Amino acid sequence: AHLQKLMSDKKCPAERKEEMENVLMQLDNFGQQELAEHFVKYNVKSPVTGNDLSPPISFNLMFQTSIGPGGNMPGYLRPETAQGIFLNFKRLLEFNQGKLPFAAAQIGNSFRNEISPRSGLIRVREFTMAEIEHFVDPKEKVHPKFENVADLEIMLYSSKAQTSGQSASKMRLGDAVQQGVINNSVLGYFIGRIYLFLLKVGVSADKLRFRQHMDNEMAHYACDCWDAETKTSYGWIEIVGCADRSCYDLSCHARATKVPLVAEKPLKEPKTVNVVQFEANKGAIGKAYKKDAKLLLEFLSICDECYITDMEELLSESGEFSVETEGKTFKVTKDMVGVKRFQKTLHVEEIVPNVIEPSFGIGRIMYSVLEHTFHVREGDEQRTYFSFPATVAPYKCSVLPLSQNAEFMPFVRELSEALTKNGVSHKVDDSSGSIGRRYARTDEIGVAFGITIDFDTVNKTPHTATLRDRDSMRQIRAEVSELPIIVRDLANGSMTWGDMEVRYPLFEGQETGKKDTAEE
Ligand SMILES: *[C@@H]1O[C@H](CO)[C@@H](O)[C@H](O)[C@H]1NC(C)=O
Repeated sequence: AHLQKLMSDKKCPAERKEEMENVLMQLDNFGQQELAEHFVKYNVKSPVTGNDLSPPISFNLMFQTSIGPGGNMPGYLRPETAQGIFLNFKRLLEFNQGKLPFAAAQIGNSFRNEISPRSGLIRVREFTMAEIEHFVDPKEKVHPKFENVADLEIMLYSSKAQTSGQSASKMRLGDAVQQGVINNSVLGYFIGRIYLFLLKVGVSADKLRFRQHMDNEMAHYACDCWDAETKTSYGWIEIVGCADRSCYDLSCHARATKVPLVAEKPLKEPKTVNVVQFEANKGAIGKAYKKDAKLLLEFLSICDECYITDMEELLSESGEFSVETEGKTFKVTKDMVGVKRFQKTLHVEEIVPNVIEPSFGIGRIMYSVLEHTFHVREGDEQRTYFSFPATVAPYKCSVLPLSQNAEFMPFVRELSEALTKNGVSHKVDDSSGSIGRRYARTDEIGVAFGITIDFDTVNKTPHTATLRDRDSMRQIRAEVSELPIIVRDLANGSMTWGDMEVRYPLFEGQETGKKDTAEE
């Protein structure tokens, strides 16, 4: 905000402006020290008091809490849902008959120590996340269905473009993967699916881009990361992250719990390998270290060949070496360990899977949908509507009798019951008020379709009623008995309004939209 203020000054020279623009573009790429230097360089003050700023400090983004009746067991509220999936990795792998690739998904609340909660659903301390963890063999990082999304033209803002001051550009997803802009086709596949999902729920394509994390911004364990960002009245905001987290999570959990989290892949040909292991003398170790002996034995059982060879040398030179594990130091002497060497034939290979993680911020997606689908009817500022896609509109349909005439009511009831039976959420509005006014009211809350019962419904057989499309305000006429099925198919996305216009006669009548409201 400080730099933007400096830049808006008419006296600010063009090259200084450009320099500051560059700084703004890379804000997320700066480390602690660089940020501190920029505070000094641009003389940034507190906007409220005008005081100097302290240098930036690190702080914990996780919320600490106390667990148990005594409250003396520290715990942390989860900052993402993902870790539950990693902890269940072994079981999930089993569910998939031990084969890669496979994925698990989860939705739930997460908590972060947000320093400035504000902007409605955008900056909050408790929020709903939905995450997918797609586990894949690092040697086979290609997605078999990538072809299905390769032709999508998506606005990409690469790390290179950001650091060199270029703008985002549209690119065919297939080309982006082939040219290495996106690291691999599994990541590319999920970027394509995220894009399609966001359009389907109502995000506008012209306010959506994928921005790659810059080197310093990217978590140290990720090998590539792209955020889906939407343009809103708050600027560009991140709504979905899509990261290739490589093997980081599984290997961390494995190290901390000493349980290997690996998948096994059958080898085409059995392989003979040399194995080197410590051979512990449990008696001697037990006698020397009593109840701590277990820690040392555990440590010795997981050492690798390189370490064992080094320690073997120490043993023969000085007769002992020391080991640190779990905060304790052990002296290991010749009588406690030997070294065993043998050959083993392997039929399977152990793989630590890599993981591709699409991570959705549900509140932020909803906020973007609300902004992007909000419209004002041309030529009438009073009439606003949400163009929610029918699949996500909370109400799919309204049922409106033309007036409060009692003859209409049996049809209202029949339609309402049939819609419920077909699982179509709907709203009956039999209040007084012109039909135009009631349409406007349902448009305001984004009801996708409206059925109207008029005198032709009552007086003619077969009984028909009109169905109106919110966005185009066009209407068709169909039999009352068919309408619930028609709306169901429109609402679940298996049919489009265009399909219906081909099948049923257009109806021009009742609604004279603008005129109607004008009359009131
Ligand atoms: C993808 O990431 C891996 C791991 O960081 C790296 O070795 C490789 O060069 C990257 N490939 C491309 C095309 O950037």
